[in-house]
Amino acid sequence: MTRTATTVWLDGHLLEDDQLHLHALTHAMHYGSSVFEGIRVYPTAQGPSIFRAREHADRLIAGAAAYGMTLGLDADALIAAIAATVRASGRSAAYVRPLAFFGGETVRLDPGKECPVHVMIGVLPFEGLVPGGEGTPLFRATISPYMKTPSRALPSTVKAGGHYTNSIRALADAHARGFDEAILRNDRGEIAEGSGENIFVVRDGVLITNDADADILPGITRASVIALAREAGITTRIRPLTTEDLAACEEAFFTGTAAEVVPIVGIDDRDLGGEGALTHRLRTTYTDVVRGRREAPGPWLTPV
Ligand SMILES: Cc1ncc(COP(=O)(O)O)c(C=O)c1O
Repeated sequence: MTRTATTVWLDGHLLEDDQLHLHALTHAMHYGSSVFEGIRVYPTAQGPSIFRAREHADRLIAGAAAYGMTLGLDADALIAAIAATVRASGRSAAYVRPLAFFGGETVRLDPGKECPVHVMIGVLPFEGLVPGGEGTPLFRATISPYMKTPSRALPSTVKAGGHYTNSIRALADAHARGFDEAILRNDRGEIAEGSGENIFVVRDGVLITNDADADILPGITRASVIALAREAGITTRIRPLTTEDLAACEEAFFTGTAAEVVPIVGIDDRDLGGEGALTHRLRTTYTDVVRGRREAPGPWLTPV
């Protein structure tokens, strides 16, 4: 695998290159005790701009608090650090990966008060992160044999490193069976989400998605798409999703920062016949809003 050129900020300093030195006992590396974000920077007429910087910063800080991490910087400082790292990268289109993690130097499960908490920000090119790149990926999905971790075991609203072993296993299984993405069900058998995306269906012309009580990460893209749909007068319902919804829907799509809005064109042996009309409408609206080509309903773009 080739190395991805990454501009790295660690604990207030830009590193000379991407050579990050970590202690062998870094707690997060052993136990997944990190929280992270995935953020996009888009080229806009105002220059490179961070999409929904505030919401991502708030989610990271809330997730860190859930893990007992004190970051030593608030949302404004985090956004300023992200903007500085993006500027240092010289990129106008980028993927930003902030990560807060417990460092060394203990093998004890309880990191304890002495264990240092680090904040890292990586800025990398976006290309290649999603199949199809800037084109329109069309996903064939499969209902996963892997259950979505119940929130009473690990809270799904927290984007923690360790939680992602669940997604990694489900995605590997989907890929091994020739699918692009997995759809995980929760412990009640309801639809939860993809390995790294939320899911929407269109049924009888109504846009439907589930909520945090379905053990999902309530995505920022999901919230943006709901806001754009409501602004456009599209009837939108938030309720639990079932496998029956997947069998009966006219359209389905995934949402996520990296993938944006991705049409689901097949679910196991069901063929949904290409991108649906409502999916297309929401996808193009979202695509235009994130690139500043269409006005957002709020201050969603932060120029760096
Ligand atoms: C499990 C999971 N669900 C949903 C999402 C979508 O969240 P967002 O739209 O905030 O990127 C992600 C991506 O971060 C994810 O990892």
